[in-house]
Amino acid sequence: MTAVLGLGTAALGRPGYITLWHATDLDHAYSEAAMEQRCHAVLDEAWRLGVRWFDAARSYGRAEAFVASWLAARAIAPSEVTISSKWGYRYVANWQVQAMHHERKDHSLAALAEQLPESRALLGPYLSLYQIHSVTPESSVLSDPDVLARLGELRDAGLRIGLSLSGPRQRETLERALDLEVTGKPLWSAVQATWNLFERSVAPALVRAKQAGLTVMIKEVVANGRLVARVGDAIAIAAALAQPFGDVVLSGAVTPAQLASNARARELDGAALADQYAVLIEAPELYWATRAKLAWN
Ligand SMILES: NC(=O)c1ccc[n+]([C@@H]2O[C@H](COP(=O)([O-])OP(=O)(O)OC[C@H]3O[C@@H](n4cnc5c(N)ncnc54)[C@H](OP(=O)(O)O)[C@@H]3O)[C@@H](O)[C@H]2O)c1
Repeated sequence: MTAVLGLGTAALGRPGYITLWHATDLDHAYSEAAMEQRCHAVLDEAWRLGVRWFDAARSYGRAEAFVASWLAARAIAPSEVTISSKWGYRYVANWQVQAMHHERKDHSLAALAEQLPESRALLGPYLSLYQIHSVTPESSVLSDPDVLARLGELRDAGLRIGLSLSGPRQRETLERALDLEVTGKPLWSAVQATWNLFERSVAPALVRAKQAGLTVMIKEVVANGRLVARVGDAIAIAAALAQPFGDVVLSGAVTPAQLASNARARELDGAALADQYAVLIEAPELYWATRAKLAWN
């Protein structure tokens, strides 16, 4: 095992999400108070299990606010945790499970100028890593001089800057990002990418990222729930934990029981399991087309 377990809050901050049994996991209890209580229960279990990295985004509904209220309620100091968040998507589902649009992408300088103060208002000194959310080849953000200059200023002021990736061309996007410098210095402290037993195509670029000194976060390790039925959550997570490029593997657990089950991955030989299940590898285009069809629930 080379990486540690972290907790992502994409499924915990809002009523609707794409994981297979989201509505069932939430018991269809969608009031803000119920969602906050559930999120805190999962965060408590994470703390008990030694998890100290929590990942959020502006677009995960009230996730940043729920993490902030938990940190305050449990009197956890900024030095005891790592809190990462993301800008670049707005949450537009209006607390509905089904919506015409759930998130709206905007990688402009105006979006960064709007969303960073919003994240800071909630997370204050806890926010240590701010990521561009879901960079793809179609996004012009990696060649936007204004955004890059602002991110360079934030880096120089001490905020760690990262990017998350999505889609079948994660590898190419990351290679391109790694070639970037802003005012003669590397911009990135971290990258967050999808790697799981089905979709491993980003791995060579993650090796390079790790060699360049970035913190590598691995997400969607159970393929949004699809791998749970195929191999079990612990096996899928163990395989991710064993990857030599990984620093943090994000659990997407929605209940304390799921998280406790996820954490059993730490007792397994993930490297052997990754080899054993190589037969599951899908073409990236097929994997991402399947993901795109997951129903919000
Ligand atoms: N572009 C980006 O930046 C991006 C995109 C996606 C995710 N992320 C990050 O990665 C984190 C994780 O992603 P994710 O939640 O989408 O995918 P995931 O981790 O692959 O899937 C998590 C889901 O798997 C199922 N599961 C996990 N353990 C289980 C168990 N023991 N029993 C039954 N089901 C279990 C649950 O869904 P069901 O019960 O509903 O099946 C759970 O919600 C997010 O919270 C976020 O921080 C980032």
